[in-house]
Amino acid sequence: MTAFAQRVFSGVQPTGNLHLGNYLGAIQRFVELQSRYDCMYCVVDLHAITVWQDPVDLKNNIREVTAAFLAAGIDAGRHIVFNQSRVPEHAELAWVFNCVARMGWLNRMTQFKEKAGKDRENASVGLFAYPALMAADILVYRGTHVPVGDDQKQHLELSRDIAQKFNNDFAASITANGHADGFFPLPEPLITGPATRVMSLRDGSRKMSKSDASDLSRINLSDDADQIATKIRKARTDPEPLPGEVKGLEGRREAENLVGIYAALAAVSAQQVLDEYGGGQFSTFKTALADLCIDKLAPITGEMRRLQADPSHIDKVLASGGERAGVLARETMNAVKDIVGFIR
Ligand code: TYM
Repeated sequence: MTAFAQRVFSGVQPTGNLHLGNYLGAIQRFVELQSRYDCMYCVVDLHAITVWQDPVDLKNNIREVTAAFLAAGIDAGRHIVFNQSRVPEHAELAWVFNCVARMGWLNRMTQFKEKAGKDRENASVGLFAYPALMAADILVYRGTHVPVGDDQKQHLELSRDIAQKFNNDFAASITANGHADGFFPLPEPLITGPATRVMSLRDGSRKMSKSDASDLSRINLSDDADQIATKIRKARTDPEPLPGEVKGLEGRREAENLVGIYAALAAVSAQQVLDEYGGGQFSTFKTALADLCIDKLAPITGEMRRLQADPSHIDKVLASGGERAGVLARETMNAVKDIVGFIR
C-alpha cells in the first residue's frame, strides 16, 4: 500500500443553528489538529441542499459557519477553508463514487433513515446519495484523517468501503497509470474526547441537533450569556446529587451529558469534574457550568458577530481557500479520469 501524505479533512453543513455539539464534537478539535497536520475545513453547501434551504438563508449560513471556523481559531492562511460548491470536483468525484457504492451499503445508513423518516418516497435522491458525496469530499484530496462527532462514524466507514472498492475494481488500471497500487487512502475517523456525542439539554436520549424544534435543547453559537445561563439552568437533570465516580453516571444520561460538556470545555477528564463537583447539588454544578460555557463561548460568539458584519472579508477567505483546494482536487480528478478510462 502506498504511503499517503497525511491530510486532515472535515466539513460542517451550513444549515443554521450551529451549536455546542458542533463546536465540541468538531470545530474545537479542528483547531487542535492544525499544529500537527495540513488541514482542510469545508463548509459543505452541496450537502445542505439535500433538504430544502432558502437561498438567502443558505448564503448567510455559509458565512456563519465560516465565521465560526475563523472565530474558533482556524488559521485560513496556513490551512484551507472553503465552501464545497466552489470546487466542482467534489460533485464530479461523487458521481464516480455513486457508481462504485452499492445500493445495499447506502440502504444501511441510519442517518438517511432518520432524516427521511416515514416519508421515504419523498426524500431527495441527494439525501440518499449523501454519503458518497462525503467520501468524495475527503478523497478528492486523498484525505487521511477525519475529525467528526460520533454520529458520522457510519458515513466514515462507508467512505473507507468506497475507497477500498475503487482501489480493488481499478487495481490494474491504477498500476498501468503509474500509481503504486492503492490510489485512495482509507480515511481514518478521529472521534475522541469527552464530547463526541453531545446530547439535547431537554432529553438525554437524543443528540443535540440543529433541527430540534426546541431551542432550549441546544446552546447555539449565536446565544448570548443570558440565553446560555437560562438554557443550562433549565437543562433536564435527575433528583440525585452528582456521583463521585464516573461509573456512577451510568444510566444517568442527562448528568453524564452535562459532565461531558464541562470536561470538554475545561479540557479535563470527566473524573476530574466529579472530583470537584461529586456529591454536590446540581444547582451548584449548573452555575459553574454556565459560567464556564459563557467564558469559553462569549469570545467566539463576539468574534463571529464581528466577522459576519463584514461578509466581503468572509467571501474573500472562501474564494482564496477554494482556489487552493481546486488545484489539489483537479490533480486527483485528472488521475481518476485516467484510471476510470475517460479521455481528457
Ligand atoms: P454536520 O454539519 O451535521 O455536523 C458537523 C460536525 O458536528 C458534529 N456533531 C456533533 N458532535 C457532537 N455532538 C453532537 N450533538 C453533534 N452534532 C453534530 C458532526 O459529527 C460533524 O463532525 N456529513 C457531515 C458533514 C460532512 C463531512 C464531510 C464531515 C460532509 N462531508 C467530510 C467529514 C468529512 C455532517 O452532516 O455534519
